[in-house]
Amino acid sequence: MIVLYKSNTGFTQKYAEWIAEELNCSAISIKDINVNELQNYETIIFGGGLHAGKINGLKPIKNDIFKMKDKNIIIFVTGATPKEAIKIEEIENANFSLEEKESLHLFYFHSGMNYEKMGISSKGMMSIFKSMLKIKKDKSPEEQGMYDTITKSNDHSKKEYINPLIECVKTII
Ligand SMILES: Cc1cc2nc3c(=O)[nH]c(=O)nc-3n(C[C@H](O)[C@H](O)[C@H](O)COP(=O)(O)O)c2cc1C
Repeated sequence: MIVLYKSNTGFTQKYAEWIAEELNCSAISIKDINVNELQNYETIIFGGGLHAGKINGLKPIKNDIFKMKDKNIIIFVTGATPKEAIKIEEIENANFSLEEKESLHLFYFHSGMNYEKMGISSKGMMSIFKSMLKIKKDKSPEEQGMYDTITKSNDHSKKEYINPLIECVKTII
């Protein structure tokens, strides 16, 4: 098995490395992998951060992963939103076709925000989003929660959050 990840500010990489450590396999950034090598693996675990509902890094690699038959496909997503406020079906619907949904296992891990490591375009997007939320009157509790979550750097990641994914892998292999 192999753990692949796309990570801009380090959260997904940290979760990928925790998973690889538990499963005794390698964690590799998608920028360092040749997709033809994926044929050699029975179980492919991919992780990316949630960017406005989309899984970062998934698009370029998705077709290669799903066109291979008889692979166990596990996807994990990291995001600044607390897990209780996440609707996993919405992430699934926004990122996968019906057919893809049938052949994958999807997990969400709470991470945080890291403005120190964020690129300039992401910082710009977050700044617009923050200003829009700030000026919005009568914010719902969810919107206020989101505003508090994204205003400054924070890290809520915990190794124990990977436990359901590890259990799932151990059950299917
Ligand atoms: C441009 C941008 C958009 C984001 N959109 C969301 C989002 O829709 N939902 C969420 O929970 N977190 C969102 N986040 C937070 C990231 O998903 C979170 O920091 C993630 O763990 C980043 O992963 P990475 O450090 O591996 O790149 C966003 C962050 C950025 C920079």
